[in-house]
Amino acid sequence: SGGPVIAVDGPAAAGKGTLAKRMAAELGLPYLDTGLLYRAVGRLALDKGQDPAAPAQHLAEQLTRQDMARTDLRTTEVAQAASKVAAQPAVRAALVETQRRFAAEQGAVLDGRDIGTAIFPQADAKLFITASAATRARRRYLQLGGVLSAPDAQAQLAEMEAALKARDEADSSRASAPMQVAADALVIETDNATADEVLAQALAYVRERL
Ligand code: C5P
Repeated sequence: SGGPVIAVDGPAAAGKGTLAKRMAAELGLPYLDTGLLYRAVGRLALDKGQDPAAPAQHLAEQLTRQDMARTDLRTTEVAQAASKVAAQPAVRAALVETQRRFAAEQGAVLDGRDIGTAIFPQADAKLFITASAATRARRRYLQLGGVLSAPDAQAQLAEMEAALKARDEADSSRASAPMQVAADALVIETDNATADEVLAQALAYVRERL
């Protein structure tokens, strides 16, 4: 039962979201950004003045659609809080069913860190999207409206790169469902590829497996 499940994992700001969304549209599948679940929990912890490293299972269990639809989830502060709550096994456990249920009826494209390794180890196709930290920092900077010729561009880029690296390091070294390349994933290095090229490569790979 159910349609195909496509797992898109990789480090922060690698372009997973853009790719996963476009793939979902091409394939006619629902799309879920699973990072938003952890961001929403991190946001709730911050709102309560709670240390994001403190137990947050109750927040994950009570998460609502409204929490996930908030427009203030895309900040660096929230990303860091998300990474801290995401390291808690009880928080991860509370969010597993939501992710599996999302794909149960029609299948789905999901992006995150552990989709191919922990949430859907039997996914029909797994992609791991990556790029150097410098490339990812530059893309995120431009995405946030940064201008490369600005006087403080180099300092901002360096700061962004350091923050991305620290989060990747935390996400890949945690004990519970760390970010890892699944043995059966196709790794796509996007440093020297356009978004259209990555999409074409990913779709060709996925279509062979459906
Ligand atoms: O993808 P995004 O940057 O929005 O994810 C925010 C944080 O949520 C990540 O740094 C990671 O700690 C956590 N996350 C996770 N597992 C996922 C998706 C996100 O642990 N499947």
